[in-house]
Amino acid sequence: MKMRVGMIGCGNIGADLCIALQRGTIPAEVVALTDIDASRAAVLSRTFRLNAKICGLDENAACADFLVECAATDAVKGVVEAAIREHKDCLILSVGGLMDCPELLDRARENGVQIRVPSGALCGLDGIRAAMEAGLHMVTITTRKPPKGLEGAPYLVENKIDLTNLTEPMVVFEGSAREACKAFPKNVNVAAALSFAGIGPDQTQVRIIADPNATLNSHEIVAEGAFGKLRAVTENLPSPRNAKSSYLASLSAVAELRAAAEAFVAHRAGKA
Ligand SMILES: NC(=O)c1ccc[n+]([C@@H]2O[C@H](COP(=O)([O-])OP(=O)(O)OC[C@H]3O[C@@H](n4cnc5c(N)ncnc54)[C@H](O)[C@@H]3O)[C@@H](O)[C@H]2O)c1
Repeated sequence: MKMRVGMIGCGNIGADLCIALQRGTIPAEVVALTDIDASRAAVLSRTFRLNAKICGLDENAACADFLVECAATDAVKGVVEAAIREHKDCLILSVGGLMDCPELLDRARENGVQIRVPSGALCGLDGIRAAMEAGLHMVTITTRKPPKGLEGAPYLVENKIDLTNLTEPMVVFEGSAREACKAFPKNVNVAAALSFAGIGPDQTQVRIIADPNATLNSHEIVAEGAFGKLRAVTENLPSPRNAKSSYLASLSAVAELRAAAEAFVAHRAGKA
């Protein structure tokens, strides 16, 4: 038995998930594809020889057992609303999009709909979650990237920050995870995932460093609470298929889909 997946967003992460499913070790199959650009859904379907409907979100949510959003932050609200309406669990990749709809998270919880969020390109969230049981009073994340990795961010454009001739590391942003989401929307999934695991988007502090000497994207979490102090550093290689994204981010999406599918199948078999 397989969990039937409805995928919303048919780009790089969608393809990474299809590659993982092709290996046959995850009890799931893609049965529906939705994309604002239907031609991308058609390409994904052809490439991976999927037996999937290309359809709108409502039809997708109605025919799948589980929804995977791997589109964009502005798709998140609609996907979570559809998941609640159809009483289907979901995996949200564009984690920053959840910050704008806290009331939907409450409604999902009240309706017994599980919203899964991958840990992304970060390690240490297990410790953050555990530490929250006794309370945390400080959580920060410092993200260090080569300047190219930050190019085009709204915050840099608005503040006319030019990183092209940088010779030394430069702190380009310090603020809350919520502010970071608006300032660097393409670099925030880690900050959003950290804030959901811990003390929330307004209390979690984010520092972004453009480092001309950096060859990797790295993230350092520091947290303090009743449990003591935690420091977790992740040094990420790029994804083999998409140089702009960290490999661990894709792998965390695959791991989360695997966990969801195994739980679904066990539940249907009456073991859970
Ligand atoms: N949480 C994480 O660790 C993590 C890791 C990687 C990517 N992401 C996020 O996942 C999302 C997808 O990433 P990607 O690299 O696959 O991007 P991508 O640009 O390669 O693909 C996105 C696809 O979604 C489609 N799309 C865009 N807006 C849509 C909408 N409103 N409704 C339906 N389809 C829409 C696009 O046409 C495109 O085909 C992004 O938001 C990205 O930030 C999260």
